[in-house]
Amino acid sequence: MLSYVVIIICLSHAILISGSPPIVLWHGMGDSCCNPLSLGTIIKLLKRQLPGPYILSLRIGSNIVEDTSNGFFMNVNHQIDYVCKLLNSDENLSQGYHAIGFSQGGQFLRAIAQRCPNPPMLNLISIGGQHQGVFGFPRCPGDNETICNYIRDLLRFGAYESFVQNHLVQAEYWHDPHKEATYRKASIFLADINQEQTFNEAYKTNLLKIRNLILVKFLRDTMVTPHESEHFGFYEENNTSKIIPLRESSLYLNDLLGLKIMDEQSRIKFLESDTDHLQFTDQWFIDNIIPYLQD
Ligand SMILES: *[C@@H]1O[C@H](CO)[C@@H](O)[C@H](O)[C@H]1NC(C)=O
Ligand SMILES: *[C@@H]1O[C@H](CO)[C@@H](O)[C@H](O)[C@H]1NC(C)=O
Ligand SMILES: *[C@@H]1O[C@H](CO)[C@@H](O)[C@H](O)[C@H]1NC(C)=O
Ligand SMILES: *[C@@H]1O[C@H](CO)[C@@H](O)[C@H](O)[C@H]1NC(C)=O
Repeated sequence: MLSYVVIIICLSHAILISGSPPIVLWHGMGDSCCNPLSLGTIIKLLKRQLPGPYILSLRIGSNIVEDTSNGFFMNVNHQIDYVCKLLNSDENLSQGYHAIGFSQGGQFLRAIAQRCPNPPMLNLISIGGQHQGVFGFPRCPGDNETICNYIRDLLRFGAYESFVQNHLVQAEYWHDPHKEATYRKASIFLADINQEQTFNEAYKTNLLKIRNLILVKFLRDTMVTPHESEHFGFYEENNTSKIIPLRESSLYLNDLLGLKIMDEQSRIKFLESDTDHLQFTDQWFIDNIIPYLQD
């Protein structure tokens, strides 16, 4: 009888540890949680390559249409709160999870790491995320010119007007190198998570809790200007001919987010793909990303 019980315990323990850690995905602009052609493909790939992880593809809102529209028009700070509650209440994530953000989902998940340390994030993988923001809106995802033109009009009208800040996601990481002072004061999202307003000690403490930060930059990106932002690089103030890379930025030199510490411990992985925005192959993903999801 005793050995029977022991076997049962061993078996159930084996089942508990057999899967790889859970994975949380945050889609990009113009996309949704559940598009079979985008994140659907990724989810299938993850299931083929890993032993049965629990996968949560974030849906911001109560259906796919809302989710897509919220990627343009729902205040990012409210999205972060919404997702934090969702992660908190998901019992399957309580032991920790890996996070993969696509495009703007990359900087949004970094905000989750900084503001929402429970449940614990393990590796943070940012695929084409704009960590220093964007200055330009050259192309529209999903090819909806109506939405695209509307967003351009709003950004032109005044990205740092409080009405635009509160209602347009892309304005909340709009970074105008000719208006650094205004950006710092008015940006309700990016300037906050990048410690350019008041210094928030918890942002640094919390980000340092993750194991690794994996940053993917697309070398032929026609969607993100400048694409160096995907590795935390950005234009020099008042000079769009010059890029200041992460290691020369004040964010890094003053170590406001712990990035210098992480880098010195080789916990930041600077990956590149020689393609356009998010245009990687299955094999590239298997070779470069899957290793960070295995344990
Ligand atoms: C937790 O994972 C199990 C197994 O994958 C699943 O059946 C269950 O619905 C998940 N719970 C939540 C809250 O999603
Ligand atoms: C583009 O978006 C607008 C506003 O949401 C919508 O009314 C229109 O049907 C969309 N057009 C296409 C081609 O999807
Ligand atoms: C950048 O230009 C603005 C506006 O012309 C000016 O106020 C600011 O001092 C300049 N910054 C630097 C570092 O030159
Ligand atoms: C802007 O940067 C470029 C490239 O480093 C440099 O040649 C140029 O002098 C800079 N312009 C100003 C106004 O500082």
